[in-house]
Amino acid sequence: MALLRRYGVYMGISVLILYLLYTLSFPYDYSKDGPQRPASPDSPPRYDWGRVAVDHPVQSLIPLPTGEPLPLPKIQFDFQEEDANAKKIRETRREEVKKVFLRSWKNYRAKAWMHDELKPISGGWQDTFGGWAASLIDALDTLFIMGFHEEFRSAMKDVEQIDFSYVRMNEINVFETTIRHLGGLLSAYELSKEEVLLRKAKEIGHILLLAFDTPNHMPKTRWDAHRKANGERQTADPKVLLAELGSLTMEFTKLSQLTGDSQWYSAVAHITKLLEREQDHTKLPGMWPITVDLHKQSFSEDRSFTLGSMADSAYEYLGKMYALLGGLEPAYKNMYDKAMSTAIKHALYRPMVPDDLDLLMPGHVSVEGHPMIDPEMQHLACYAGGMFALGSKIFSIPEHLDVGRKITNACVWAYKASPAGIMPEVSHLYACPFIDPSYPCHWNETLWSKAVASRASSTDDVDPTTNIASLRLPPGFVEIRDRRYILRPEAIESVFILWRITGQQQWQAAAWDMFTAIEKATRTEFGNAALADVSADTPAKTDSQESFWMAETLKYFYLTFEEPGVVSLDEWVFNTEAHPFRLPKRKG
Ligand SMILES: *[C@@H]1O[C@H](CO)[C@@H](O)[C@H](O)[C@H]1NC(C)=O
Repeated sequence: MALLRRYGVYMGISVLILYLLYTLSFPYDYSKDGPQRPASPDSPPRYDWGRVAVDHPVQSLIPLPTGEPLPLPKIQFDFQEEDANAKKIRETRREEVKKVFLRSWKNYRAKAWMHDELKPISGGWQDTFGGWAASLIDALDTLFIMGFHEEFRSAMKDVEQIDFSYVRMNEINVFETTIRHLGGLLSAYELSKEEVLLRKAKEIGHILLLAFDTPNHMPKTRWDAHRKANGERQTADPKVLLAELGSLTMEFTKLSQLTGDSQWYSAVAHITKLLEREQDHTKLPGMWPITVDLHKQSFSEDRSFTLGSMADSAYEYLGKMYALLGGLEPAYKNMYDKAMSTAIKHALYRPMVPDDLDLLMPGHVSVEGHPMIDPEMQHLACYAGGMFALGSKIFSIPEHLDVGRKITNACVWAYKASPAGIMPEVSHLYACPFIDPSYPCHWNETLWSKAVASRASSTDDVDPTTNIASLRLPPGFVEIRDRRYILRPEAIESVFILWRITGQQQWQAAAWDMFTAIEKATRTEFGNAALADVSADTPAKTDSQESFWMAETLKYFYLTFEEPGVVSLDEWVFNTEAHPFRLPKRKG
């Protein structure tokens, strides 16, 4: 998942300033949305997208790979019949998740219908993604999976009414629109086979393709659709976030697979070729930097690397694309192998925590001579646990399951360690020098307090224990830079994947603790609200419920307590907004 519209404002300025903002500004805002100024809310301009001229027609389309899908290894644990007691507990928990979803859905329907988001405290609404009913589209597949078929059918006629010819924002975020709107429509279509959903997916797909109409066919990721619609020529930008470039593949590929029209696949296959070509020519060969130059198609300037925010799903999609293409495109395997071995060497750290738990977490790497890791912990980066676990199965790399387990455990630990039982948005831990568990990483209170004092730029004569109390830091946390919880899914996403892959009940137990803590702290009259500070015993709420609450967070909780055959990881692969796409059927 990614990132952060707010950074779009800074896109035009230098990497140095971006980096300074990245390290110095706080509170961080990693939220995937930040309200954008509407172009003109009352009478937005309307375009006939079918008549917009294409300035740079694609000369040779790259076709979808053909041939018989390869037999991929089995991904899910070989679940056996559960005992009656376990089943009873599981089903009770599943029903609790359903109830919470239904409250949010009904109030969205009653109070914010056809708008992007419900405001869960006031009962109002807001349009954060252009007013194309983001929560409605995003939640459709969850409705279907949870068995709310009547609600689902009755939403279909309203989906038909969503009018993509109106553009209410100055700029369309191509990535956000792709993962939420296109991904949501495609997934709901594959589950239900309602034709209107594929028709709407094609509509939005045609609009998004116009963002690729540049001389080098690289997309405008923050796209001024008004200028394009008015006939202006466009070129790709010199500063683009990696996640926004690298996370369009699954949705565009699925649209081509479902329509038989390869123009969407071709558009993203060009990006993949570029990523493949540049992978060894960056400041940290094997990984791509946070910002890339799409105008020159050069990846060699930025010195910042991470599996976390602003890069995240570009990495997440490598293994998932390999599976979605039935193993017929080896580029994704090669890129996964190189990227993950570099990440394991340089972009993960082992935090020092009480009880000497053996944990790992992705950090932020800057390359000045050698790569240096900053032991940051982002809630958003918790997705990486599931990525490594899934990769271990898809590519038969047992060590990656271990890495995925340790990252997911770090997130479970961070939930437990916080007073509200919920992990904060961005914090820092203390990194032991080696991630290899054969080196010691013993909890040492002196070292921890020193690290706290130095992060807080305190002088040596300040008693660090006073400091820790006044900073409200649970043992192990060296700094909490952003204390919010915005109803994010990444921790439960990885817990769900670990549960389905290992069958170990500890993951269901962790999920239930997370769910009860979140529901208790975020519940409002109309839904669930973002929290301002999870390190308070009773965190204050803010009037926001992002569309990923119903699309992702509640879907992953639900599926953790649903029978493992429902949306099995052997048949489906989730996009970064938790929309499941069907894997190609293999023979045999
Ligand atoms: C903790 O670390 C400090 C500083 O490196 C060291 O002097 C001390 O012996 C350590 N304490 C324990 C219990 O290992």
